[in-house]
Amino acid sequence: MRQSSLVVMANRLPIDDSVAPDGACEWRRSPGGLVSALHPLLKHTPATWIGWAGGTGPAPALPDVDGVRLHTVPLTPEDFRDHYEGFANATLWPLYHDAVEQPEHHRRWWEAYQRVNRRFAEAAAEVAEPGGVAWVQDYHLQLVPALLRELRPDLRIGFFLHVPFPPPELFMQLPRRAELLRGMLGADLVGFQRAQAAHNFAQLVAKVFGVPATDRQIEVDGRTVRVGAFPVSIDTAEMAALATRPDVVARADQLRKDLGDPEHVILSVDRMDYTKGIEHRLKAYSELIASGHVKVRDTVMVQVAVPSRERVGQYQILRDRVEREVGRINGEFGRVGEPAIHYLTQPFDRAELAALYRMADVMAVTPLRDGMNLVAKEYVAARVDDSGALLLSEFAGAAAEMPEAYLVNPHDLEGLKQGLLAALQADPADAAARMRAMRAHLHRYDIRSWVRSYLSTLDGTGSVPHELTTD
Ligand code: ADP
Ligand code: F6P
Repeated sequence: MRQSSLVVMANRLPIDDSVAPDGACEWRRSPGGLVSALHPLLKHTPATWIGWAGGTGPAPALPDVDGVRLHTVPLTPEDFRDHYEGFANATLWPLYHDAVEQPEHHRRWWEAYQRVNRRFAEAAAEVAEPGGVAWVQDYHLQLVPALLRELRPDLRIGFFLHVPFPPPELFMQLPRRAELLRGMLGADLVGFQRAQAAHNFAQLVAKVFGVPATDRQIEVDGRTVRVGAFPVSIDTAEMAALATRPDVVARADQLRKDLGDPEHVILSVDRMDYTKGIEHRLKAYSELIASGHVKVRDTVMVQVAVPSRERVGQYQILRDRVEREVGRINGEFGRVGEPAIHYLTQPFDRAELAALYRMADVMAVTPLRDGMNLVAKEYVAARVDDSGALLLSEFAGAAAEMPEAYLVNPHDLEGLKQGLLAALQADPADAAARMRAMRAHLHRYDIRSWVRSYLSTLDGTGSVPHELTTD
């Protein structure tokens, strides 16, 4: 078995199996924030990525991708149902997102979660070089740090949570709350998107175990566990370069023509997830059309919503409701050849996404709760001429870093409508100043700075930068 000095573990591998038009199996980059964040880093670092390849058969042997070794962990149909769809996405996901949908608790799901976490820890124990770094990602793998420490105490172990970490009163609902915290405490560094999440974690550890815990470090079992906020970012330069490529510029122009050359284009790009606030946004848009504040011929909305976690009941219900509402709005307000909303559920390659960002005057990113939201950052990075307006929910992690966006509370329908109108009618000079400030921030705090700051803190050579620790 070849070993690596850096081992990244994430539920998903950076590529996903999908079926090509000719029926053959093809591999493509998985949509989702975690992959978008880590893929650029690993292109430049000799590393092994341990993850699941997206099916429930035996683990396929995959070739290296951009120099990164891919080590697949198989999931059985039961693991997929009880670990991925169950504990990860029907217990933890809703609970960590303010319980905007009701979390479910089943003992069988917990068994599967433990089983799959153990499988990941064993895989990492096999492929990590002596004294190497193991970096565990996200809520699917919260038990891995402690399990891996038992198997390989020589490793430096990091854990980073890409999603929000809830306040104690919500987390305390979890029947296995102590085990989940214990799992995370196996790491040398526990990283979060926002300082508030680090604070929630420290409070919980102090409450549940009665050990000394601050927002920066926790003493447990004779070890020090460091804690901090490391807001994840994107490959800003790559997105800017993509958005200026002549074929992407031409494609953006073509897209706009295809939309009928409207005065304003509003764009939203989400995974189809109830945390993304899609229904609230559609309601706001539809009310603005109904009241005459927005004219369908002048303004067009493009909603990209790639299906996600499709067998989980709450996701099926959401998709049905969104599609019914899009149909209603188009039926009521559209005309032949002039729909009010262009609705797309396809995955796109990076160039097509860049063309969409480049084409849109207003990007509406209005999640009810989101760990970071990389789509918001991608849009800003693509606006190389400082045009365009970002409408952003206060409840996305990105809002703490980009206060120059048009910030809204998506639960406040009137506020959401006002925010959308403000973005549509923005004074160009004011909008450009806002965009310039956000682009400058992303230029400085890109994915490389995130990785540097996390890994240098993990190996003890750096410390949590102050400017990144305040909410
Ligand atoms: P989440 O992690 O919840 O999915 P983020 O906004 O942080 O949300 O990340 C979503 C990522 O997935 C972004 O990098 C975005 O470009 C990508 N993505 C979203 N929709 C699509 C799509 N239709 N096709 C390809 N990539 C997509
Ligand atoms: O950021 C949260 C997250 O669950 C990531 O782990 C993942 O990249 C993304 O959302 C997509 O979700 P899934 O892997 O369930 O399709």
